Amino acid sequence: MILLPTLYLDLHPDTNTLLSDVVDGLSQDQKTLPSKYFYDKRGSALFDLICELDEYYPTRSELSILGDNIDEIQHFLGESVILVEYGSGSSTKTRLLLDAIPQIDAYVPIDISREHLLDAASNILAIHPEMKVLPVCADYSQTVHLDLSPDPGSHITAFFPGSTIGNFKTASAIEFLKRVHTLVGVGGGLLIGVDLEKDKGVIESAYNDLNGVTAEFNKNILLHINDRIGSAFDLDTFEHRAIYNFQNHRIEMFLESTVEQVITINGSDYSFDQGETILTEYSHKYTLNGFEDLATKAGFTVDKVWTDCRLPFFCSIPNSQLIELLVDLIGS
Ligand code: TRP
Repeated sequence: MILLPTLYLDLHPDTNTLLSDVVDGLSQDQKTLPSKYFYDKRGSALFDLICELDEYYPTRSELSILGDNIDEIQHFLGESVILVEYGSGSSTKTRLLLDAIPQIDAYVPIDISREHLLDAASNILAIHPEMKVLPVCADYSQTVHLDLSPDPGSHITAFFPGSTIGNFKTASAIEFLKRVHTLVGVGGGLLIGVDLEKDKGVIESAYNDLNGVTAEFNKNILLHINDRIGSAFDLDTFEHRAIYNFQNHRIEMFLESTVEQVITINGSDYSFDQGETILTEYSHKYTLNGFEDLATKAGFTVDKVWTDCRLPFFCSIPNSQLIELLVDLIGS
């Protein structure tokens, strides 16, 4: 039996938006493509595979932090919660919260990948038929207008796991968090997963797995764009690169053209030198202080931090895997 979500809001970016994003990105000196276009059906499925890779530590770390601290998290969430998740994907981590915390009355997963979003919402409803589920298909890097007026006594908590905040540049991260702050309002909160700085080798192998799943995921952005606007990127002429940039505290993902080539989009030519790159994604790594600073600039105060390392500030164990989660409850 397929359970349909109770409600569904579709704000999916249209093809014209995608086309102008692609044209803008490829017209820059350092060519770029917006990382939100990784996530069509295939990209979302590939990302699920990344989350299970031996090398990709963030998902495991975060699941164990959530599991180990679920009672405390429940306490911080308070009574009667509307949980809004940004970039919900398969909602795997959310299941930990929804299964353990009965005060969550409603769940609003937001994701750009429509089919993945609806599948995940149906799965949640099958397990929690009493829950109000409102899937929203949208690009949350832009303003998303949600009219969620909580009943008196209830409040909104945003959930933003996966260290996806690290995929924004600093200024955009602050802008995004400000929008979240406005959405959750007085009495609301944010539970966020943030990957901390660690050994370069550990980070680089998380984004360069031996089986090449991350490379497939990175290249999928070209397939998705080909599908949507009929361009002719040849995936065999691009290679995945992921390099840690110490100065800017971030892993940088590129697609490198292995040949000199010209790609025509909407009647205009975009030429690539051999070795020229398209920047597809940043993933910033933080210190606890650095992230607290960022959250404060967006109006949040940090109530609680959980990590999977007891001495986060001094932790220099080469293989340490740290993720920070914090909850902010404003004015409650
Ligand atoms: N939010 C994820 C991260 O920063 C996204 C991600 C994981 C990713 N692996 C990737 C993005 C590989 C591009 C390529 O860890």
